Amino acid sequence: MKNSDLDLTGQVAFVTGGGGGIGRAIALCMADMGADVAIIEVAPERCEQTAAMIEERGRQALCIPGNVMDVEALQQAIAATKERFGRLDILVNNAGGVARRDFLDLKEKNWRRHIDLNLVSVVAGTSAAVPIMIEGGRGGAVINVTSIEGSRAAPGYAVYAACKAGVNNLTRTLALEFADHGIRVNTIAPDYTTTPGLRGNFTGPVDESKWYEVSDGHKESIAKRTPLGRPGIDEECGQLAVFLASSMSSYITGATIPIDGGTWASSGWIRDSKDEWILGPEA
Ligand SMILES: NC(=O)c1ccc[n+]([C@@H]2O[C@H](COP(=O)([O-])OP(=O)(O)OC[C@H]3O[C@@H](n4cnc5c(N)ncnc54)[C@H](O)[C@@H]3O)[C@@H](O)[C@H]2O)c1
Repeated sequence: MKNSDLDLTGQVAFVTGGGGGIGRAIALCMADMGADVAIIEVAPERCEQTAAMIEERGRQALCIPGNVMDVEALQQAIAATKERFGRLDILVNNAGGVARRDFLDLKEKNWRRHIDLNLVSVVAGTSAAVPIMIEGGRGGAVINVTSIEGSRAAPGYAVYAACKAGVNNLTRTLALEFADHGIRVNTIAPDYTTTPGLRGNFTGPVDESKWYEVSDGHKESIAKRTPLGRPGIDEECGQLAVFLASSMSSYITGATIPIDGGTWASSGWIRDSKDEWILGPEA
């Protein structure tokens, strides 16, 4: 094994929702490892902000302001990436999100929005990007960002969780369909990771000092239910995405990898006041 097995120099990545949170961290980690990166991002200031950070790393950036729920805009953004860089090696379907609401309170426009954002955009992005990878003849990597909610019940998040479960399974099927082209398809499934979206911030430039902080009380409750005792850091998702894009993961395809500090494994077990693991709330 060599350090260069993680090197992405010469490769081109396209990241959806790359202006903030996990998408930005993935874009920056890929740039750190040598990739040129295009992003599509609905908040224009964030798009410019990430592009500048990619360029500070000495890589080329393409900022495409746009909404992944607009399938045509997403297709055009992927075509523009091929046009600009002449190739596409890595697709990261990251953009997604949810507002908590009980299932029966969702109106048709709400659940359709959830499906467009969390499932249709992944199908649309993949169907636009993979033919370019196949034409390039060098293989490629598709990396989806789902959630641990795609593998467990999620009251208040039913449609979101169903979409994430759908993407987990799309990952398995497409891994088979694209295998002969050397295109690997994998998914990263975070749990609680501190990002602007998690703190309710969806517009304006990303301000780390404001949107990445977590109150002490909140930290404590996360520590109780998270084996590793803290929230996730967006850069940790970036590191996993680099691994899945690189030749370091050359024999991994069709996998959904939890990046959750152990919450999928603990599945209901929490720490009590004596710091012992118990199932359910303390008596
Ligand atoms: N943060 C978490 O705890 C967590 C946990 C599980 C899964 N996830 C998943 O990770 C992904 C990223 O989440 P995050 O917490 O980093 O979110 P975030 O809101 O902090 O960042 C998302 C970025 O995508 C952009 N974006 C949102 N909708 C878009 C659209 N329609 N078109 C283009 N850009 C758009 C936003 O402007 C923002 O810059 C999502 O798919 C989410 O479901 C996050």
